[in-house]
Amino acid sequence: SHTVMSNHTGMIDVIRDRTGDLFKFSKNGSSVVNERRKNRDRQRNARESVRSDNSALEKVVRKGSNGTRHDGRGTRTNPPPRYSRADIQRQRQALPAYKVREQFLKVVRENQVVVVIGETGSGKTTQLPQFLYGEGYKERGLIGITQPRRVAAVSVAQRVSEEMNVKLGEEVGFSIRFEDRSSSKTRIKFMTDGILLRETLQDEDLDKYSCIIMDEAHERSLNTDILIGLFKKLLARRRDLKLIVTSATLNADKFSSFFGNAEQFIIPGRTYPVDIMFSSVPVMDYVEEAVKQVLRVHLSAENKGDILVFMTGQEDIEVTCSQIEEELDNLRKLDETIKPLQVLPIYSTLPADLQARIFERSEYRKCIVATNIAETSLTVDGIGFVIDTGLMKLKVYNARLSMESLQITPISLAQANQRAGRAGRTGPGTCYRLYTLTAAQTEMLPEPIPEIQRTNLENTILLLKSLKVKDLSRFPFLDRPSIESISTAQYQLWSEGALDNFGDLTLLGERMSRFPIEPTLSKFLILSTLDRFHCSKEVVTIVAMLSIPPIFVRPNNDMGLQKKSDSSREKFQVAESDHLTLLNIYDQFMSHGRNEKWCQHNFLQHKSLRRASEIREQLVQIMKNNKLDLTVQDCEDWNLIRECVCAAFFLNGASFKKYGQYQHLRSGLEMALHPTSALYGMGDLPKYVVYHEVILSGRVQHMNYVSTVKGEWLIEYGGVFYSKRVRGVSSKEHQRRKETEYEEYLQASKK
Ligand code: CDP
Ligand code: MG
Repeated sequence: SHTVMSNHTGMIDVIRDRTGDLFKFSKNGSSVVNERRKNRDRQRNARESVRSDNSALEKVVRKGSNGTRHDGRGTRTNPPPRYSRADIQRQRQALPAYKVREQFLKVVRENQVVVVIGETGSGKTTQLPQFLYGEGYKERGLIGITQPRRVAAVSVAQRVSEEMNVKLGEEVGFSIRFEDRSSSKTRIKFMTDGILLRETLQDEDLDKYSCIIMDEAHERSLNTDILIGLFKKLLARRRDLKLIVTSATLNADKFSSFFGNAEQFIIPGRTYPVDIMFSSVPVMDYVEEAVKQVLRVHLSAENKGDILVFMTGQEDIEVTCSQIEEELDNLRKLDETIKPLQVLPIYSTLPADLQARIFERSEYRKCIVATNIAETSLTVDGIGFVIDTGLMKLKVYNARLSMESLQITPISLAQANQRAGRAGRTGPGTCYRLYTLTAAQTEMLPEPIPEIQRTNLENTILLLKSLKVKDLSRFPFLDRPSIESISTAQYQLWSEGALDNFGDLTLLGERMSRFPIEPTLSKFLILSTLDRFHCSKEVVTIVAMLSIPPIFVRPNNDMGLQKKSDSSREKFQVAESDHLTLLNIYDQFMSHGRNEKWCQHNFLQHKSLRRASEIREQLVQIMKNNKLDLTVQDCEDWNLIRECVCAAFFLNGASFKKYGQYQHLRSGLEMALHPTSALYGMGDLPKYVVYHEVILSGRVQHMNYVSTVKGEWLIEYGGVFYSKRVRGVSSKEHQRRKETEYEEYLQASKK
């Protein structure tokens, strides 16, 4: 996506800027020259005041703060890592939400549904649940708060437990997929919207809740949208249940009118002006440009607030962080008066303890490099500068390949404003947009497209079917998904045997819906319990391993280490199958006592592997609850496991074309083996394979996690799809095999 910049050019540029050269930015198309002059003045003033009168500046900063903002110079002694209790209470009381507590509670008392509108950072997420708690709703049931993002659910639960001075997991808890930190004591429960949606499967009236706050509803995540639809009927059945929908932006009318003109409650907020600067020329490399801009800001406007950079995803964030650190190190060697920066990444798969660091007090100025998670769901105080790449990673669905991929796309105008606003929360700020005004006007949509209109609906439809929503065309969608995407998903589910010819759930489908994982994976698990395969113990491991981020550490910048990492990976490989390779790695991890040193030595992510074992535990529990047998004995014949992989993933079948190249059996599309695959580099490549998923790298479709399969397996398990495409098995035999397999399906479902 970007080329890594050379140190030299970057550095020279920065130094030039420092000596008074110009920004390449213009403000809303207004005179660039004026802007430059202003900037230069600003720089000079800033530097002069730093140099000449430190104490005066300190005073100004103190005055402007509400006791929480650090002055960037840091104290020489070790600063407290966290805010003190008194600090926290002071912060709380300064929040706009705090001042309208009584009014809010009154509106909730008098209405079943309330739509709350407030600026981000006004205290909706952290304060509203506490108000309800104090008002006695906790006696009537749980106070549930849903978040579209896992990171937000965890960090906000942490924060609220701190504010209430209770242990996380007791009065205040959270629940995200595969991780439940709530208990019988829990009264305030933060969770992802996916979790609440799953809970409706067990308890369709959500009886244990007295209030539900659907937070961040403006984000229009798939699960939130579906929940909102379900609430329409649920609220009529449960007159005592309170629903609060919060929205950061002002397009809350949609929610209000959906619930029959529901009451709106506005939290008055205060924001400061933010100067917006567009790039005057298109930016070629947004990572490089963002790094430069961070350094420009840091050098020209010290002590003027922290920096927040909006990047696309983990990979870019990591490169950006290390580039900033490297460049700054070089500069500090030349001029030691330059202060260090506390560079902090934040993205959803970052381990929780590292995520929490963005909220901690820092001795130095913070530079947070984030995904769009920092747009609305996380608020960090004291941001004075926003650097916005104008891009995000968006899940895009390709119905033809039934492939979901994350693609880098321009954000919407609404998001651009939201991002800029992050700089004006505690004082006036500046937002540097790494794109031109023209690009914003021509390439950006006014609002983001709701997830429901751009995603694979397979899981959602499986869930709605198990909630006995018979007629999807009559479901009250806030925004309707297209007919095509509904029928594609239904066809997919039918192909997998989850729906019958009438579109009703089969018993297999019913079982599949019990697992909070993608349908093919749950099918894989269920099939492995059949007598014919009898390898559920192994398959549950493979499924857990497929549910974590890549486990191999491959150092970015060090060729030597990369080689070592690659050869370590090869040691674990089982020649004909990546699925079996995953199994092998996990088994060895366990037999080495889950040892961290062992992981490091073998370039394996210890945290991810530990997570895999936690996920495995949870899956085993769900299997038990659904009376699916977990095999006790080890599976002696690993070919059976591969056969089971084939039975579950036959729709992802591909046949050998030429070296390293395969062809998707159903669509004819070309796909390549992923370089990390165990099959890659094999002398004699198998004729048929199935894969877990496709990932796009550039224009090449790579099959990720591949297993060798036999042609007759493909016919046996994917009959209708493959009878003509796979040769060597007679159709009579295929028919016979098909029938026995059906019998087994039915048997399995009746157990
Ligand atoms: O939900 P909303 O955007 O309205 O605000 P919030 O998330 O409730 O945040 C209110 C305040 O709590 C902000 O000033 C945050 O900086 C602070 N906060 C924090 O310090 N640490 C957290 N983990 C979460 C919030
Ligand atoms: Mg919030």
